[in-house]
Amino acid sequence: MTPTKEQIIKALSQVRYPGTRQDIVSSGMLQEDLKIEGNKVFFSILFPKAHDPFSTSVVKAAEATLKSFVSEDLEVKGTPLFPEPTPEPKNMLQGVKNIVAIFSGKGGVGKSTVTANLAVALSLEGFKVGVLDADIHGPSMPKMFGVEEARPVAVSTENGAEAIAPVEVYNGIKLLSIGFFVEPDKALIWRGSMASNALTQLLTESAWGDLDYLLIDMPPGTSDIHLTLVQTVALTGVVVVTTPQEVALIDARKGIDMFTTDKVEVPVLGLIENMSWFTPAELPTNRYYIFGKEGGKKLAQEMGVPLLAELPLVQSICDSGDAGLPIASHSGSPLASYFKDLAIKLHTEVEKRNREIPPSHKVEVVH
Ligand SMILES: Nc1ncnc2c1ncn2[C@@H]1O[C@H](COP(=O)(O)OP(=O)(O)OP(=O)(O)O)[C@@H](O)[C@H]1O
Ligand SMILES: [Mg+2]
Repeated sequence: MTPTKEQIIKALSQVRYPGTRQDIVSSGMLQEDLKIEGNKVFFSILFPKAHDPFSTSVVKAAEATLKSFVSEDLEVKGTPLFPEPTPEPKNMLQGVKNIVAIFSGKGGVGKSTVTANLAVALSLEGFKVGVLDADIHGPSMPKMFGVEEARPVAVSTENGAEAIAPVEVYNGIKLLSIGFFVEPDKALIWRGSMASNALTQLLTESAWGDLDYLLIDMPPGTSDIHLTLVQTVALTGVVVVTTPQEVALIDARKGIDMFTTDKVEVPVLGLIENMSWFTPAELPTNRYYIFGKEGGKKLAQEMGVPLLAELPLVQSICDSGDAGLPIASHSGSPLASYFKDLAIKLHTEVEKRNREIPPSHKVEVVH
C-alpha cells in the first residue's frame, strides 16, 4: 500500500527534536522534498547546527516512527541536512612573519620610544612593519606617531568576516593601539580581563595583512597582559629594554627569567640598554654616564643574550616623541643611525633564531 503524504507528516510530527523540544514538523525542520514512491519514503531534516549532536538519533527516531505508525512494510530513508558553517574569521596573523614583543621590567625605561623608533628604522630598511601598542593602561603610540585623533575602521575580509583595519602612519607602518578606542582618562579603569580581551582582539581580529615584523609595545612589568600575549600568539621572541640603573637591571633580569622558564620558553632576542649615557646637544662627543656604566652589557653577558644597542640619553629623542615623529625618521640625525644599527642587529638575530629554533608555539598553561 502507498501511504499518503498526510499520513507521513502526521506520523513525523510525533518526533521531537531535543534541542528545542519541538516536533520536527511544526519547527520547520522537515523539508519540502518529502517523496513517496510505492512503499518507499524519502525525507530530509534540516538541523539548526552544523555539527548537531542529535542528528543521527532524530533521523533514526523518525524512520522508526514511520514504520510503527504508518506501516512495517515501508522502506524509509531519512537524510540529515546541516546549515553551511559560518565562516571562521581567518587567522589574521597568518601573513605576519615575525612577532616581537618589546618588554621591560621597570616602567619608564623607554620601551615605547624604542618600539616607535625601531619600527621606523625597520621600515626604512624596507621591511613591512606593524606596531601594536599593548599598553592598555598608558597607550603612547598614537602620540608618538602623531595620530591621536585617528579612529580605526572595520573592514570585511576575503571570507566575509569583519576585521579592524590598523591606522597607517609614517612610511606605511600599520598601527593599532587601545588608545584609539578609549578616552585617555578612562584607560585606567580597565580591569585585567577586559584588558586581556581587548589585546587579544586587537591582535587576532585585525587586518594586519602581510608584515615582516609586528612589534608589540608591552606595558611594564609582568601582568595578565603578558600571559595573555604568550597564550594568544606564537611570539618570535622578546626584546628587553633596560636602563643602566641597578633597579632597572634587576627587573630586566626577572623579565628574562620569566620568558625563558620552561613553562613559557619565549626566546629573548636581545637586550637594549637605553639612556646609556647623556650627551648634551652642544657637546655631541661628550658622554656622561649618569646612571652607571655598562650595566646592560654585563647583564647581557651574564644571561647569555645579545646586547642589541646602547642608546644615548638626548633631548631630541624625547622632543621628537612628543612631536609625533620618531627621531629615527630624521635621516640627518646621528641618532637615526643608532636605530638603523639596532634594526639590522635585530633582524640578524631574528634570522638566526628562525634558522636555529623551531617556530614558537602558544603557551598552553601558565600558572
Ligand atoms: N634615549 C632617550 N633620550 C631621551 N629621552 C628618552 C630616551 N628614551 C626615552 N626617553 C623619554 O623618557 C620617557 C619615557 O620613555 P617611554 O615612554 O618610551 O618609556 P616606557 O618604558 O615606554 O614607559 P612606560 O613604562 O610608562 O610605558 C619619555 O618621555 C621619552 O621621551
Ligand atoms: Mg610605554
